[in-house]
Amino acid sequence: MANDGPAKGFHVVVVGSANVDLEVQVPRWPDPGESVIATASERFPGGKGANQAVAAAKAGGAPTALISAWGKDADGALMANFLSDAGVDISRVREVDQPTGLAIVMVDPQGANVVTVVTGANASVELSEADLDLITGSRVVLAQLEVPVATVARAAAAASETDAIFVLNAAPNAVLPAELLKNVDVLVVSHLGARELATQHFRMYPSDDGPLLRALQRLVPSVVMTKGALGSVVAQAGQDPEVVHALPVVPVDHTGAGDTFNGVLAARLAGGATLGEATRAATAAASISLNRPGAGPSIPTAREVAVTLATGKVPPQGA
Ligand code: RIB
Repeated sequence: MANDGPAKGFHVVVVGSANVDLEVQVPRWPDPGESVIATASERFPGGKGANQAVAAAKAGGAPTALISAWGKDADGALMANFLSDAGVDISRVREVDQPTGLAIVMVDPQGANVVTVVTGANASVELSEADLDLITGSRVVLAQLEVPVATVARAAAAASETDAIFVLNAAPNAVLPAELLKNVDVLVVSHLGARELATQHFRMYPSDDGPLLRALQRLVPSVVMTKGALGSVVAQAGQDPEVVHALPVVPVDHTGAGDTFNGVLAARLAGGATLGEATRAATAAASISLNRPGAGPSIPTAREVAVTLATGKVPPQGA
């Protein structure tokens, strides 16, 4: 766990959360005040930061470190094993006197999910001088919003002083100050999240891709807007937006697919890929994840992503 020694040389540094996911399969969403009987339940390693770090590490060629926090409890030990087994460096993760983050995930028969997060130890993620050294020595810094926005802003400001590419996955929705966004190089955001940001910053309510992307590009020059089964749109300054189509898949479980997307995107950018190339690899990886249960365990290997990229086919469910 965290010590003050410098741990330099990681291509990807992820600043984010670690949760254990209590995932329950439900036949349908309960109405307010109603109970439904789950058909199954399981505990999986998860959390947007941990999932994205594992996806980056498994993508191959991008030594990856995670800056996070978890409790001195069994869930913390579960997360440590999950990340270490995937080759993620956890020397900058703090063990704190709060419980490890917990996500309650309901998954319906179509694989759609509803998630409630108990923040726990993630609320204490902050950056020491050693963490800032790690960030400024990296190629890509990747963050999400399950840790304090002030911590993400500090990471972005530090990365902006260097050549490191700062990628922000704006999930879950949060209020994001313009001072933070000005230090973001690549914004990855869902269509819904994009509308929320356009409303926050410009009091605009566009739903069409063109005006939405143009609004967001006033905040961050490079935007990847994800649209689920409709794929994603890559918008970069001075270029026509590029649509990257999703691969055909009947989802088993959406949990962790977005994180797989972001982790692989970061690893590919760290390896010198263009944003379009990185998005195509990320799309292939996310499609594989959709076909598997759970967040952490659904993240594919580099080889699986390479085969799917080459064939356009996703491995069968559960494989
Ligand atoms: O993005 C999926 C993740 O969001 C889950 O693993 C859950 O922990 C929540 O943080």
